[in-house]
Amino acid sequence: MAVLEQLTSQQAIELEHKYGAHNYHPLPVVLTKGKGVYVWDVEGKKYYDFLSAYSAVNQGHCHPKIMNAMIEQTKTLTLTSRAFYNDMLGRYEKYATQLFGFDKLLPMNTGAEAVETALKIARKWAYEVKGIDENEAEIVVCKNNFHGRTTTIISFSNDPVARENFGPYTKGFIKIEYDNLKALEDVLRKNPNIAGFLVEPIQGEAGVYVPSDGYLVAAKALCETYNVLFIADEVQTGIARTGKLLATCGNCSCNNGNCSDTPDVKPDILILGKALSGGAYPVSAVLAKDNIMDVIKPGNHGSTFGGNPVAAAVAIAALEVIQEENLAENAYILGKLFRSELNTYIKNSSVVKLVRGKGLLNAIVINDEEKNNKAWDICLALRDNGLLAKPTHRNIIRFAPPLVINKEQLLDCVSIIVKTLSAFEK
Ligand SMILES: Cc1ncc(COP(=O)(O)O)c(C=O)c1O
Repeated sequence: MAVLEQLTSQQAIELEHKYGAHNYHPLPVVLTKGKGVYVWDVEGKKYYDFLSAYSAVNQGHCHPKIMNAMIEQTKTLTLTSRAFYNDMLGRYEKYATQLFGFDKLLPMNTGAEAVETALKIARKWAYEVKGIDENEAEIVVCKNNFHGRTTTIISFSNDPVARENFGPYTKGFIKIEYDNLKALEDVLRKNPNIAGFLVEPIQGEAGVYVPSDGYLVAAKALCETYNVLFIADEVQTGIARTGKLLATCGNCSCNNGNCSDTPDVKPDILILGKALSGGAYPVSAVLAKDNIMDVIKPGNHGSTFGGNPVAAAVAIAALEVIQEENLAENAYILGKLFRSELNTYIKNSSVVKLVRGKGLLNAIVINDEEKNNKAWDICLALRDNGLLAKPTHRNIIRFAPPLVINKEQLLDCVSIIVKTLSAFEK
């Protein structure tokens, strides 16, 4: 078989299975093309993408403005490393810091790298600004977190699949219950060596757990009281996904009116990834005020590709698309419609227990026993009916379409979902 020969789905799956590490368990569908909210498989079947590459493709597949920025930049200059300046990085840093309301940005590539970066910054700040004794700094994290897959990050995961047989684990993390202010206050009160509190504004991978109203605001206030950095991992929730530019929308300039739903929660350190490039290219970033970011000096941290001119051009275009097309507003309005339509269905359903989420980051919880695989079977049936979604954890299905979806398409998707679920009712 020639390397570039057209493949059937079965051939493509077999190739990955034989020559690739088995570190994922994909839904059996082989995609070859994407445009907006749609993707096509190699046999030409069209689907709604209801995962958006785990919320990376918020701007829709192959958005022309983002593609154009990428193509033009790749024809001019792709990589210099940070050994030299390039004429795109500073523009992007200025644009993004002003948009999100921070002083400085540290560019990386993947979400996990950005989380690692934030942890390093928080530790260094703790020693050099807060005055914690060397090697004593602790970072508070939440149970059922998902922040990526590096050795340090899995050290504070409680997912056995992510952790088992990857020890010894990195020290310096204290795990508390998510959405539990008392647990946070207790740990902050008892321990003077805490550098930061790392939190997802909504726990996406855990199953789209939305914390109680006021949790993030109160958690931030506690961090201020105890001089601890509030570190928001918005890799999945950020860039309009939850109906606002950021789920922790504090002083940002998105002005879409929905920000008043949540009072000001301004992270000390903001972590972004995924949709920062519209899914076109690996781009992640850490943002902070000068008094925090200035602890980083030449040689402390870096990455050959971080801040490359293509990433910078793509990220500017991706952020412009979010604003020009009012995608936060769209996610806010269509998210409400989606939950309300599904709630109507759920009233008489024995298959689905509930729908939860914010904006267009939602999940349904399937009524199922431990031994069964109903959520997976439902996802296979959804695929057959033209919509792609994937279980996150055994009985939870996440629904996160590209934010460029319109009302008609969303209602079409609701009818596909309802038709599919109905077939599973007894
Ligand atoms: C909240 C959060 N943080 C970090 C990551 C890791 O990002 P990446 O897969 O780009 O390393 C993810 C990925 O799903 C995520 O959801």
